Formats: sequence, structure tokens, C-alpha cells
Amino acid sequence: MGEKIEHLEMRGITKRFPGVLSNNKVNIQLKTGEVLAILGENGAGKTTLMNILYGLYQPDAGKILLNGKSVRINSPSEAIELGIGMVHQHFMLVPTLTVCENVILGLSKNFFMDLKTAAKRIKEITDTYGLAINPDAYVWQLSVGEQQRVEIVKALYRGANLLILDEPTAVLTPQEANDLIQLLKNMSEKGNSIILISHKLNEVMAVSDRVTVLRDGEVCADVNTRETSQEELARLMVGRDMAPCRREGAFSPGKPVLELQDVFARGDKGTDALAGVSLRIREGEILGIAGVSGNGQKELAEVIAGLRKTSRGKIVLNGKESTQMSPSRIIEQGLGYIPEDRIHVGTIPSFSIWENLILKDHHQPPFTKHFLLQNRTIMSHSSSQVEKYGIKTPTLETPTGRLSGGNIQRVVLAREITRKPVALVAAYPTRGLDIGATEYLHSKLLEARSNGIGVLLISEDLEELTNVCDRIAVLYEGRIMKVIPVEEADERILGLLMAGIAEEAQVQA
Ligand SMILES: Nc1ncnc2c1ncn2[C@@H]1O[C@H](COP(=O)(O)OP(=O)(O)OP(=O)(O)O)[C@@H](O)[C@H]1O
Ligand SMILES: [Mg+2]
Repeated sequence: MGEKIEHLEMRGITKRFPGVLSNNKVNIQLKTGEVLAILGENGAGKTTLMNILYGLYQPDAGKILLNGKSVRINSPSEAIELGIGMVHQHFMLVPTLTVCENVILGLSKNFFMDLKTAAKRIKEITDTYGLAINPDAYVWQLSVGEQQRVEIVKALYRGANLLILDEPTAVLTPQEANDLIQLLKNMSEKGNSIILISHKLNEVMAVSDRVTVLRDGEVCADVNTRETSQEELARLMVGRDMAPCRREGAFSPGKPVLELQDVFARGDKGTDALAGVSLRIREGEILGIAGVSGNGQKELAEVIAGLRKTSRGKIVLNGKESTQMSPSRIIEQGLGYIPEDRIHVGTIPSFSIWENLILKDHHQPPFTKHFLLQNRTIMSHSSSQVEKYGIKTPTLETPTGRLSGGNIQRVVLAREITRKPVALVAAYPTRGLDIGATEYLHSKLLEARSNGIGVLLISEDLEELTNVCDRIAVLYEGRIMKVIPVEEADERILGLLMAGIAEEAQVQA
């Protein structure tokens, strides 16, 4: 392990990818015990810059100085040697191994003998920072939030004193996010340095000391957090004022398009993740599902999409029972689906943007006629989608996996909303989107609503839910606690229901 990082500087960093100037003469600085936030729209170059610091990419120009000395970081293991740890935007854990095995993976000379000692150290770390995690659980059994904790433990285990977190709270519940913010504060008070990438301005304001804003690969501002405000940061990022998008106009839902009747389903851990869920979504309505993630949200979305079997109960989609239908039959029956895991379930990363944009319709007109792909139609469709959804990409042929996190999501959103489904299930659709794109997505959901689509919106963001939904159902331990009209839903009542407290919420209502 190298000496402790007292001062870090990245100077004049430039990085080019085919067709994109991802970082252009970027300077950042960080002292020990400081929290630096890096802000910027989707595709601004945040992850690229951090991947350079973590040794995943080499810059085309510029240098990295640690404690005043120029260093070359050729690989993540060299970064770790220097005390730099990183928690990625998309986790890099092995699902078939346990937590403990994942933590020591790549470190250990005698894997099986080291497991015991490792388990002990992991426990010390998790106790110190209050990170609840079971070292013996398999990673595939863990929720996204838990997987992230494993990533953090992994970095701490390796002795990181500069921790890079790339959108750590995008995947966390509000409670978990608060805990993480607290954890980051503790860590910085104990003399660690932290670089935090986030689209959530309230978090940036709460935890950072300084903010560097990137726009199109360049630093456009570098401010002390104390001397700025959320409004100013938003303006710096997008170059205009932002206003939240709210539902308006009469609420006149039509016939039911999606119904769940007493649905039960098992979760990955073998217990009932859904225990008697009944819901009805009508044309032209947005029904929100509030709740702390891990209370059946994932399974709810999956049973509707046919990706998970129900053990009891019935699902009716667009007038037909869909309970036993295959996923592709369910798509034909009119379901749009924005999955929680957009990278693995939502897209095929090696496929081009245009292929992913027509993934579900490539076999039918207008994209295929007489068994021939209609190139011109496809390309003009794709380029208009790229334009409308602001997908930042050098070409339509670019593999989707090369895009920035937020831009991959835009590809899924563009495809699913444009298909004009009868019912749309959207699981955490704004996770990872920048504030401009979030606003755009909300307007698209509301547009879907006025076009008579029935939308099921799963979210942890209460403000998002109360801004766009007509009714909000609270999911707790696989059951619907209550369904409330949005007019009656305030954060307190929702919070109580989300914690499984029904009586008091009713009294309050
Ligand atoms: N390996 C790569 N190959 C080609 N292009 C890349 C690669 N990595 C990043 N890029 C491009 O560099 C640009 C910046 O991407 P980056 O992932 O750094 O953005 P970001 O600021 O992290 O965005 P987001 O908020 O969406 O995560 C994007 O246009 C992206 O497509
Ligand atoms: Mg990123």
C-alpha cells in the first residue's frame, strides 16, 4: 500500500473515443478529507474521467498527481495499490459467488483458507460503518442496494482512502441513500477523500465540499458547495432553468387495461415476494407503486412481463388472461416494459443503437416487409428517436453498450414508449437520468397517459410519484397496504405506509 493520499490532482486530462471527445483538458483537485462532487448531464464525461483515475482507461493527454508527484495508473490494481477505490455505476460482482468470496476475489493467494479471516475483517468493516450485509449470502440473492454495499465493502477491504462513487444512490431507497450519505460524511471526517458522481442535487448539497461541473467533456464550473445552490447547479449543468413537470388536466380513466387478481409469486430467496396483490390500471391513468425497494417491486414488474411465474392468482392484460403467456406473447398483447435492470434485460449491449431501438418490432412492418429489413425506414425512425430523446451517440451503428449510463436508459425509454403499448410498466425509469432527461421522461409518461395508455410507475421517489401519478399504491412485504388518490398522498402518509404502518396512516388520512 502506498502513502496516504493527501492531495490529488488531475491536470489537463483529455480522452477521445471514436467520434467523441469525452474529456477535454479537464482539471480537478481534491484534498484529504474532502468530498468532491462531479456533476454533469448524461454523457458529459464523468464516468470516463473517473475510469481514468481508476486506471481503466489511459488519457490521451494530461496527468495525475498524487501528493504532488506525477503517477501513471495502468490498471485498477495499481489504483488500489495507491489507495484509490471505485464503486461503479454498474456493479461488477460475480452473482454465483457469495459476498465474502466476491470481496476477496482477485486478492487472495489461497482462496479457501483466506475466506475465514476475510469474513472476520468484513464484519469489522461492516460494523464500523453500519453496513448491513450477510457475508454468506450469494450475490444473486441480493437486492441492488445490498450489492452496492458489497462494492463499498470491497473497496474498503482493499484499504482505499480515496473512494470514487459513481451514482451510488441512483439505485438506493431513500432510507439507504440517507445512510450512505451519513457513511460518506463519517468516512470523510475520518480523513478519507471522496469523489461522488450524482444527479441528485440535494445530495450533492448535503455531502460535498466542492462541486466540479462538466459539460460536453469540459469543466464549466468549479464552486464551493457553501457558496452555491441547487438552482445554480442545475443552471450550470443544463444551461437553463428547470421546472418540475406535473400532471394536469381532467382525470377520466377508461376501461381496465391491466389487472392483477390476488397474485402470489416467489422471490429469488424462495419466499413469497408477492403475497396476494390485486391492482387495476385503467386507460389514461398512471398508477404509482411506492415502497422501499425489496418489498416485491421487482417481482411485481417481472410477473406482469411474464419473466417470473405466479404461484397463484391471475393477471389480465388488455382483456385477455396473460398469466401463462410467454414474454413475447405478452409484448404482442400490448405490454410496454421498462425494466429495472436496463443493461441486461432492457438492451443487448453489443447490438447497435438502431437494432436496440427496433428490438421488439424488427420482424414486422414498417421495419420488415416481405421478409426484408427496410433500411431507410429503420434509419429515419432511429435518427428521429435519437434526436427526440437526446441520445448522445456518435453514430446509429455504435454498440449500445458503449454509451454512457443515462444514454443507454434513453434507448430503452425511447423504444418502449414509442411502441404505443396498451399498458406500460416502468420500473424506476428515471434512475440514472440527469435532471433534464428526468423532466422529459415525466412529460412522456404524462403524454402516454393522455394517449390512453395505462401506466404502472414503480418508483422510490415520492416527489416523482406525487407529481405524475393519479393514484398511488404502497407495496410493503409483498402486499398492497393501501391505494390512495394522489390528492390525499403526502410524504408523511406514504412514509408511514411504506414502513408498514397502516393504522396510523389511516387515522391521519
Ligand atoms: N468505451 C467507450 N467507447 C466509446 N465511447 C465511450 C466509451 N466510454 C465512454 N464513451 C463516450 O464518452 C462520452 C462520455 O461518457 P461517460 O460515460 O463518461 O458519461 P457520463 O457523464 O458518465 O454520463 P451518465 O450520466 O449518463 O453516466 C459518451 O458520449 C460515451 O458514449
Ligand atoms: Mg456515468
